[in-house]
Amino acid sequence: MKCACVLLAVLALAGCERSMHDMYRQPRLDQGEASPLFPDGRGERPPPAGSVPVAAGTLAMTSSGRKGRELPLAWQVASERQALPAVTDTLLARGQERYGIYCLPCHGAVGDGDGPVVRRGFPHPPSYHEQRLRDAPDRHFHDVITNGYGIMHSYADRVPPQDRWAIVAYIRALQFSQQAPVAQLPPAVRAKLPGGGPAGGPR
Ligand code: HEC
Repeated sequence: MKCACVLLAVLALAGCERSMHDMYRQPRLDQGEASPLFPDGRGERPPPAGSVPVAAGTLAMTSSGRKGRELPLAWQVASERQALPAVTDTLLARGQERYGIYCLPCHGAVGDGDGPVVRRGFPHPPSYHEQRLRDAPDRHFHDVITNGYGIMHSYADRVPPQDRWAIVAYIRALQFSQQAPVAQLPPAVRAKLPGGGPAGGPR
């Protein structure tokens, strides 16, 4: 009798294990998978406009999720910011890296709108060095990344708010780099200019 009970229990558990596996195998769309269900062909759906994440990042997965809740708060603060935060080397380095990934393909390494995608036929974006964009407020660049602009898509789902400001800081550095007054350059850089330094002459 005892033996039969153990056997029954083992069989029941085995059945349970099988149905769990059936649950693993249910139809689903993995990250990045395409789906014909939606007009844009993407299986991943962007969150509805205005939705605010409760927690984010790897720390959202921890048991309390407390650390993960700090990130959306930081996003909210960054989203409401109207102008650049204090520019540090770390912010600029982050901006340069993110710009290289998300913007350079079209806007080009120096921001003149001549990136590799444009050279292959994509419409030419305006140069960041035209007067209108030099005069534009910091927030305009943040908003273009968030909402897109004309035929340029929004990058809100790939570039979180803090990174948008890092990119804006880098764009400001690019704008400066193309029209920097010689007098404002550090002596070491000035020395490398053709005829500008003590050594003189182009190299
Ligand atoms: C796939 C190509 C592409 C990528 C990638 C891209 N852009 Fe653009 N961007 C464009 C085009 C094209 C325009 C011009 C759109 C129009 O006027 O219809 C534009 C316009 C702009 C403008 C000018 C808006 C104005 O006031 O005229 C800014 C600023 C800008 N992009 C910033 C960015 C930033 C920052 C990134 C990276 C996060 C980025 N773009 C990524 C193609 C791109």
